[in-house]
Amino acid sequence: MSVRTVATTPFSDQKPGTSGLRKKVPVFQKPHYLENFVQSIFDSIAAPAGSTLTVGGDGRYYNREAIQIILKMAAANGFGRVLVGLGGILSTPAASCVIRKYQTFGGIVLSASHNPGGPDGDFGIKYNIGNGGPAPEKVTEAIFARSKAINEYRILETADVSLDVIGESRLGDMTVQVIDPVADYADLMESLFDFSSIRGLLAGGFRLKFDAMHAVTGPYAREIIEKRLGAPAGSVMNSVPLPDFGNGHPDPNLTYAHELVEIVYGDHAPDFGAASDGDGDRNMILGKGFFVTPSDSLAVLAANATLAPGYKSGLAGIARSMPTSAAADRVAQALGIPCYETPTGWKFFGNLMDAGKVTLCGEESFGTGSDHVREKDGLWAVLFWLNVVAARKQSVEAIVREHWAKFGRNVYSRHDYEGIPTEAANGVMKHLHDSFASLTGSQLGSYKVLFCDDFSYTDPIDGSVSTGQGVRIGFTDGSRIVFRLSGTGTEGATIRIYLEAYEPDVGKHHLDAQVALAELIGIALQVSQLRDRTGRDAPTVIT
Ligand code: G1P
Ligand code: ZN
Repeated sequence: MSVRTVATTPFSDQKPGTSGLRKKVPVFQKPHYLENFVQSIFDSIAAPAGSTLTVGGDGRYYNREAIQIILKMAAANGFGRVLVGLGGILSTPAASCVIRKYQTFGGIVLSASHNPGGPDGDFGIKYNIGNGGPAPEKVTEAIFARSKAINEYRILETADVSLDVIGESRLGDMTVQVIDPVADYADLMESLFDFSSIRGLLAGGFRLKFDAMHAVTGPYAREIIEKRLGAPAGSVMNSVPLPDFGNGHPDPNLTYAHELVEIVYGDHAPDFGAASDGDGDRNMILGKGFFVTPSDSLAVLAANATLAPGYKSGLAGIARSMPTSAAADRVAQALGIPCYETPTGWKFFGNLMDAGKVTLCGEESFGTGSDHVREKDGLWAVLFWLNVVAARKQSVEAIVREHWAKFGRNVYSRHDYEGIPTEAANGVMKHLHDSFASLTGSQLGSYKVLFCDDFSYTDPIDGSVSTGQGVRIGFTDGSRIVFRLSGTGTEGATIRIYLEAYEPDVGKHHLDAQVALAELIGIALQVSQLRDRTGRDAPTVIT
């Protein structure tokens, strides 16, 4: 067993996006491609010899092969121990939990989140730092810089190590410790939420359906929801993780989780529906025939947080990504706690949580979480909702409507235009930039533009500045339109349009969001010239 140093040449496209490096599987399978990136991580993080690393992924196609390569490279790069989930599996929040609980130096998480998998699907890799969260921009930039200069990588020449039995084995001088991927995470959940009251709710006939979408949360949800909370077998659907997610698109929204949506909006619907994504960090919450927007979900959880044992002493603060609705801001104001507005991507929440400034955070993209880990956490959000429902003894819909009546409703929707040629997408964004001066102060239908800018963020903890985080058009009544290019796609460009209008009038809270936002949608298309510039006349996905 010897360490081989392999000569290589850089790839120019290894710049991590919103959440790590994501490419099609065949790109990662190119000779040296994964190895270059992994060596670039190791070269950038300066882990002391003998450090421990956490490794796991969402089980998608190429997960096992990638993990074998990473283990052999970790051994050749001086790591002393690697904690790896059984079968190479760790959901993203479980990986964060393991990094924190066992204080490993960092972790490598293999996932392309909600993107489809399979031999022609997507694959991804990201590095998480010792707080359990995604590496901040200064680290990802260092990794990218290294990837452009790399000329060799180190790998142990040895047979594959078994990942299918819990226990320890040796890889050169390094120990590979295969761990139960579910237990630590499930214990953490049990420490945060009132499991006995949720058990009581379920024993009393409250019916739920959780859609694991053939992705990583199946085993987690079966252990927690069916075993520890006693929900009847079958409450977790699509619970067997598959490398291609059963040919599905494991994104928990009204479009892709249609199987669940049909059940929850159908006859004999359960009282509660929820879904999580490929790697278990996203969530969708549904009541009987009722959809909770992720922005509202964050606000409702914040307003009810003290009902859960883990949050009974209150929240230090709340953070939301810029495009997320301001519903949470209103709760923060009522609670007298700060609310931070960060760029898109979970990596911006870590510093605020480490500094004790925020407890809950969320994104409109079906991401909700807290300082229990440093990733968003799908099942955590589901359990939090169940805890709130059990404590309040009200339906999901009643809880949300009561919330709106108290705080007003931030009517919200996101329109995605996927697979746009990059030049056309850049043209839309440039046109918007060029229009800032003429738009500011102008009257557009019944809306008057208060400001137009490209969002910049200065991290209050370390002072780092992130620019170009999305075009904002703010109106005098607090309504907003935001335009961003996706940073997670692997094909062409995706334009996201985020629309938000504040509605204090309870008499209008029943309106469908698309109806209530119709005028803003028209304004967004007009000011961006999106239809002319892209040739598209409708969004690909509306959430
Ligand atoms: C998307 C979401 C963003 C989320 C990220 C990772 O990124 O919009 O909120 O943090 O996925 O789940 P985007 O493709 O917009 O860059
Ligand atoms: Zn995800």
